[in-house]
Amino acid sequence: MATGTLEEGQVRAMFDRIAGVYDRMNRVMTVGLDQQWRRRAADLSGVGPGDRALDVATGTGDLALELAARVGPGGEVVGSDFAEEMLARARAKAGEAPVRFEWGNALALPYDAASFDAATVGFGARNFSDLGRGVAEMARVVRPGGRVVILEITTPQRAPLSWFYGVWFDRAVPALGRVAGDSDAYTYLPSSVKRFPGPRDLAALMAGCGLRDIRWILTAGGIIAIHVGTVPEAAA
Ligand SMILES: C[S@@+](CC[C@H](N)C(=O)[O-])C[C@H]1O[C@@H](n2cnc3c(N)ncnc32)[C@H](O)[C@@H]1O
Repeated sequence: MATGTLEEGQVRAMFDRIAGVYDRMNRVMTVGLDQQWRRRAADLSGVGPGDRALDVATGTGDLALELAARVGPGGEVVGSDFAEEMLARARAKAGEAPVRFEWGNALALPYDAASFDAATVGFGARNFSDLGRGVAEMARVVRPGGRVVILEITTPQRAPLSWFYGVWFDRAVPALGRVAGDSDAYTYLPSSVKRFPGPRDLAALMAGCGLRDIRWILTAGGIIAIHVGTVPEAAA
């Protein structure tokens, strides 16, 4: 299933362009709540001390750093992305954390099958030019019994949040983008959210990728969805 209206090269160029303002824009657009959502996603990945986790489309690395705090010094986190400018920001934040940031295309992950205990993606899946392929790749690199977590913005169905969401996303976010110097990127954001499947459809897509025990939580009044699926144990 195709999700983006931009081609891969255009998505990469856009994130390279906005890398310098990306974190600040996140904090402003979400009134500082975005880190709380990433913490929740990291908790739901189920990783603990000594585990190996992958954060796909890691961008400036905030979700990867949350995973690193959970796996500790005996574990390892890989944050992968295809926009070098975003990766440069992530590397600058890493410090002593057990995390490595490296180039990788989410649609053809350069990792062996079953080589991670969990894989996460935060606000990246809606940018995949082929969502099914991206989720199937995450499922492929996670070991049986491990989890795939998708944190994404979703469209609330009920008023007053649906009304607020329309005003905020369709008007305020592009206006903030103009102030930040890139109105195109922050006009693309609301349109990419509208194209993204709703919670039930995303769960069905995950099931189609072979994941099991799929569940999701909605938070922030239904604006944020965190889906979790488990890679099935091989049949005996
Ligand atoms: C909105 S940012 C999310 C960054 C980060 N995960 C976060 O929590 O803020 C989306 C990221 O997805 C990356 N991305 C989109 N499509 C990708 C693909 N096919 N392969 C690798 N990275 C991709 C972009 O380069 C960008 O850094």
